[in-house]
Amino acid sequence: MRSVIDIRDLSTEEIDSLISVALDIIDNPDKYAEACKRKKLATLFFEPSTRTRLSFEAAMYELGGNVLSVTGAGTSSAAKGESVADTAKTVSCYADIIAMRHPKEGAALVAANNASIPVINAGDGGHNHPTQTLADLLTIHREKGRFSDLTVGFCGDLKFGRTVHSLINAITRYPGIKLVLISPEELKVPGYVKNDVIIRNNIPYEETNDLLSAIPKLDVLYMTRVQRERFFNEEDYLRLKDSYILEPSKLTNAKKDLCIMHPLPRVNEISVSVDDDPRACYFKQVLNGKYMRMALILKLLEEAEK
Ligand code: NCD
Repeated sequence: MRSVIDIRDLSTEEIDSLISVALDIIDNPDKYAEACKRKKLATLFFEPSTRTRLSFEAAMYELGGNVLSVTGAGTSSAAKGESVADTAKTVSCYADIIAMRHPKEGAALVAANNASIPVINAGDGGHNHPTQTLADLLTIHREKGRFSDLTVGFCGDLKFGRTVHSLINAITRYPGIKLVLISPEELKVPGYVKNDVIIRNNIPYEETNDLLSAIPKLDVLYMTRVQRERFFNEEDYLRLKDSYILEPSKLTNAKKDLCIMHPLPRVNEISVSVDDDPRACYFKQVLNGKYMRMALILKLLEEAEK
């Protein structure tokens, strides 16, 4: 059974084809209005979420399907001590496809290994978040018209930010990508991303803690929230939480066609006064996420039927 746990579960050709389907959905929504009729998506969210869960659910409704939903570990049998494996086996009896978010790294993989239906990882701890990456890629595609020859800056919590890990994995597959990794020393990208993806593939990169000096060279700036829930102590979080705050004055020397992204939710990382700047793309990312999730649900359900 085909699941998507890591963005590496999708080949570059498959990502390109999901983008084509999403663009077709945008142009011809009626064509897809009954594509998943009588199919059920189960959203199992054991961690807070607004965008990811609602966009999965909106995606399934727009495909003519239905949704079963568990929100919060406290309201399901997880609170009684049920394992992820047993939950996955159980939900396989009711639904056709699962989208799952869990605070533990690897939980979605355990679910996929035990489910008899496709599982989509909607975020596993500080590890991966492949469907946010699909949303990010569609945004870059629509804003920049290409994935190649871009200097992409990632700023903030690059250690625990799972969206960063997945997007670095995907964007560096395209030619001419340069990375600028902007973070405090304590929040640099983990070794499994730096060594296994960036260095292994000879991707040009620099690491800095200086956002202002990095901005002028960027085509894409991907801001992130400091991931409070993954910190071991509150003191470190409080010290690091406002390391970077993007304000209009910091954009004076930025490129005119810079694409400013953020997976959201934002706390303080982007001042609301940036929202009216035409380069602000973070709410477009939200909408693009729904289209890419529609394309992915369609693909996995089609493959499951074969
Ligand atoms: C992100 C996540 O959950 O990892 N949010 C999202 O899915 N759009 C980013 C975050 O929580 O900071």
